[in-house]
Amino acid sequence: MKQERRDFESVAARWDSNPGRVKIANEVAATIRREVALSPQMDVLDYGSGTGLLSLQLLPQIGSLCGADSSPAMLEVMANKIASQNLPNATTQFVDFENGAHATGSYDLIISSMVTHHVPDTAALFAEWFRLLNQGGQVAFADLDSEDGAFHGDNTGVFHLGFDRAHLKQLLQEAGFTEVQDSTATSVSKEVEGQGQREFPIFLIVARKPQ
Ligand SMILES: C[S@@+](CC[C@H](N)C(=O)[O-])C[C@H]1O[C@@H](n2cnc3c(N)ncnc32)[C@H](O)[C@@H]1O
Repeated sequence: MKQERRDFESVAARWDSNPGRVKIANEVAATIRREVALSPQMDVLDYGSGTGLLSLQLLPQIGSLCGADSSPAMLEVMANKIASQNLPNATTQFVDFENGAHATGSYDLIISSMVTHHVPDTAALFAEWFRLLNQGGQVAFADLDSEDGAFHGDNTGVFHLGFDRAHLKQLLQEAGFTEVQDSTATSVSKEVEGQGQREFPIFLIVARKPQ
C-alpha cells in the first residue's frame, strides 16, 4: 500500500467503459434496492460517486440525488450526464473532508461503492456520514472483503486491503449507528498474474442513524 492518493483524474473519462465496473455498480444497485426501502421522498448522497455509475440508476426511485467526490474530473463526467439527460433532481458537489472541504446538506440515505478502501481513516469517514444524515437516515455502502492486495495490483492510494465486516460493524456502532447489517452484493472474478482466476467478494453494509 502506498500512502499517496490514487489518481482518479486521468481515468474519469473512460471510467464507464470498463465492464467490470458496470457489473459492480449494477449489482450493488440491485442489492441496495433489496436492502433499503427507497422512496420518492428520499434525499440521497452518493459519497465518492465517481461518474454516477451506481447512483444515477437509482434516481427513478428516489427524490433527489447529490453525487459527492474529491475528483473534479469524475464530477464533470457525472455533471455532463445530468445535463445531457436533463435530470432536474440530480446535482454534484466537490468534497475532500480530510482537507476541510466537507459535504453540505442533510440526507435520508448515503450510498457509497468502492470508496472506503481509498480513505485512510474509516472512523473519521463514518463520523462524517453520521453528521450528514437526518435522524432515522441510513447509510448503505459496498466494498471489498479482506483481500491480499491482488484486486488492484497497483495499490497506490489503496489504504485498506478490503475489510473485515465485523470490524466495520463495530466501528459503525462506535460512531452511533444502529441496525447494522451486512450482505454479499456481488463478487468480481479476476485473472491474477501467476494465480489464475480469483474471486473477490463485495459486501453491502446498511446502518441507521437513530431517531
Ligand atoms: C473506485 S472509485 C468508485 C466510484 C463510484 N462509486 C463507482 O462505483 O463507480 C472511488 C471514488 O472515490 C472517490 N474518492 C476517493 N477518496 C475520496 C474522499 N476522501 N472523498 C470523496 N471521494 C473520494 C474517488 O475520486 C473515486 O471517484
